[in-house]
Amino acid sequence: MDKIDLRSDTVTWPTPAMREAMANAPVGDDVYGEDPTVNRLETLAAERFGKEAALLVTSGTMGNVIALLTHCGRGDEAIMGNLSHTFLHEGGNPAALGGVHSMPIPTQPDGTLALSDIEDAIRADDPHYPRTKLVALENTQGSVGGQPLPIAYIDRVGELCRQYGLALHIDGARIFNAATAVGEPVARVTQAADSVSFCLSKGLCAPIGSILVGSEAFIHQARRIRKILGGGMRQAGVIAAAGIIALEEMTERLHEDHANACRLAEGLSNIPTVEIDVSRVKTNMFFFKLREDAPISPEQLVLELAKDDILIGSPYKREFRIVTHYWIQPMHIEKVVNRMRSLLT
Ligand SMILES: Cc1ncc(COP(=O)(O)O)c(C=O)c1O
Repeated sequence: MDKIDLRSDTVTWPTPAMREAMANAPVGDDVYGEDPTVNRLETLAAERFGKEAALLVTSGTMGNVIALLTHCGRGDEAIMGNLSHTFLHEGGNPAALGGVHSMPIPTQPDGTLALSDIEDAIRADDPHYPRTKLVALENTQGSVGGQPLPIAYIDRVGELCRQYGLALHIDGARIFNAATAVGEPVARVTQAADSVSFCLSKGLCAPIGSILVGSEAFIHQARRIRKILGGGMRQAGVIAAAGIIALEEMTERLHEDHANACRLAEGLSNIPTVEIDVSRVKTNMFFFKLREDAPISPEQLVLELAKDDILIGSPYKREFRIVTHYWIQPMHIEKVVNRMRSLLT
């Protein structure tokens, strides 16, 4: 990449190996089920997650909405975090497209939803109420700084769901970062979930695509909904070829991004006008705040860094989000810390 882009891991370019695989991918018509590269990717994904089947979709948003519309019908309700991507950043799609009611409950600072809050939100069988059908977790939880959920916690949510006859979906846009952080295979991390969506196109560097995994019956219905949404792609093997490399190779190196995030957070914590809790840096994402006594404004900081080809996202109430990824190397971290120190002291 030509810039030090710390705005998100969605900015990642495909690797040279991905571009080559895309150029040479065997393809067919995936709506007919005839694209060998898509079929291979879906088989690999299902195996990796220990689920029966998988479906390639265009984006994380599409994966989540298909999951919600597969688990829930019109007038059903899905419990989710009030800071979850699904609730905040997906255009209200469960309601807009499927008449599914969202029930937001507080997202805790560690990314979990309190078990008592989940249980309190489950509706009694009463014609006044929507029918509770689903709980959706997000792992890692982005809006609280990429927090990975503890496996024991996810298992307990799974037990609660089974007790009440609900499905458990995990928005695992960055589930491999979560698995890396807790040091367990992704199949174990997501064992309690009925469905998981994850993104090939974020820290895993593929240019396009997400995957939904679940049971055969779930994926059969999800495939129908993907088609209804216009998400049936034809020679999608060119996308899947990059996805195979994402899944097989890029998942193994995420600890490097986490180490770089820690290094950068530690460097910034030594700048007196920066507020940051280094102990919360667990994956490839963190927040820092600019103190009121900083010599320049948050907006000026963004502009000054951009002059040196360092990109950070717009501030919200003096707070910034930083995300590391494949294209951010230790030498970039050093450059960013030095530049920030000179601008902020
Ligand atoms: C946690 C989370 N879920 C879902 C999505 C949606 O992914 P996409 O942008 O591919 O639709 C994102 C995107 O940033 C995300 O951060």
